[in-house]
Amino acid sequence: MTNNILEVRDLDVDAGDVAILRDIDLLVAEGELHVLLGPNGSGKSSLLAALMGLPPYHVVRGEIRFRGNRIDQLPIDQRARLGLGMAFQRPPSLDGVTVGDFREALDAASNFKQESSALDLEGFANRHINVGFSGGEIKRWEVLKLFLQSPQFLLFDEPESGVDLEHIAAVGDAINRLLRTPGSSGEARSALIITHTGFILDYVQADLGHVMIDGRIVTSGDPRELFKNIQRNGYGSVSCQRV
Ligand SMILES: Nc1ncnc2c1ncn2[C@@H]1O[C@H](COP(=O)(O)OP(=O)(O)OP(=O)(O)O)[C@@H](O)[C@H]1O
Ligand SMILES: [Mg+2]
Repeated sequence: MTNNILEVRDLDVDAGDVAILRDIDLLVAEGELHVLLGPNGSGKSSLLAALMGLPPYHVVRGEIRFRGNRIDQLPIDQRARLGLGMAFQRPPSLDGVTVGDFREALDAASNFKQESSALDLEGFANRHINVGFSGGEIKRWEVLKLFLQSPQFLLFDEPESGVDLEHIAAVGDAINRLLRTPGSSGEARSALIITHTGFILDYVQADLGHVMIDGRIVTSGDPRELFKNIQRNGYGSVSCQRV
């Protein structure tokens, strides 16, 4: 029997009173990595925000289950404690909270130093989070942060966008290390990664890809095939393949 860690069924999500996502079904099993593709404004970040419980996104129909339990009405902190963690597309700056403070607050695992070095963020301990960070540094910190939070289910919103080629390799390798390391419960971690460039597919072994258009998942399948098809023929070629 498949052990689905995340189950999204018949999900409709609004932001305030604006309809954003419709009829979303998504099942992710323990240890699986899924990729989410889709044009600008199709609803990819909104889906991650809805999974995490970030306002103003709220579920108006359907359900989200994590390890079998409904989480769609839980606040963000409870979802984080249950094991959901996210690398944001555009994270906020936390003036007054340093990288070192964050590390101490989470009493984090000892590989932090090694991972800081791998992500070229050594010497950032006294920097206030995202304050004055370059675009690439912001993205790399989002990944490094996940080593501290150590979630069971990893959500990445365009982890490689705005990152130079060498650092994309570092980000890809880091994501792979996160995925290869079992979570605190000993279970394999799962992930959902949004990508426009597809570069990340060169580093990680993605199990399934989904294409979102106009707030709906219109097709799912082999991630590399989907990506190749979109590169060749554009999103118009997949928009009619409702599943
Ligand atoms: N709080 C909000 N109020 C109104 N509309 C919103 C809100 N949040 C998102 N939207 C709209 O919902 C749509 C989906 O936005 P979302 O950020 O999820 O897209 P995306 O697929 O992540 O796009 P991109 O690839 O550009 O990051 C967009 O048209 C956006 O303007
Ligand atoms: Mg987005």
